[in-house]
Amino acid sequence: GAPVKADIGKLEPGQMVVVEWRGKPVYVVHRTEEMITNLDKVDGDLKDPDSAISKQPAYISSKARSIRPELLVVEGLCTHLGCAPKFRPEVGAADLGGDEWVGGFFCPCHGSKFDLAGRVYSGVPASTNLVVPPYSFESQSVLVIG
Ligand code: FES
Repeated sequence: GAPVKADIGKLEPGQMVVVEWRGKPVYVVHRTEEMITNLDKVDGDLKDPDSAISKQPAYISSKARSIRPELLVVEGLCTHLGCAPKFRPEVGAADLGGDEWVGGFFCPCHGSKFDLAGRVYSGVPASTNLVVPPYSFESQSVLVIG
């Protein structure tokens, strides 16, 4: 399939857009400073915090699982059975663990939870992190997926 371009110039901090690529939804999130900082707080609650067993391009190595720290790009398909996880960025969401929840994604099918780097929590059905597709930047505001 051909690469897909997305204009991310107007994506505000805290917002997500969904881009179709090869028939899959790709979630693009402009993370706030707080969201990036919070990634450090949940390492102990994750199955694969360093993405040792999860799929991502070799050039993605940081905890943020991204090329630019503020911009998350992940396939919007739960690694359990492929449902679309919901974007739940609100810190302290009562239905997702209250004070423990620092924002992320929640899969409504069987309750898998992922942080804002797409890293899967312990104690849920999914066993690997959300997949990071191959991507690059054509310019500061144009993301190329594929
Ligand atoms: Fe997401 Fe089962 S498909 S938890």
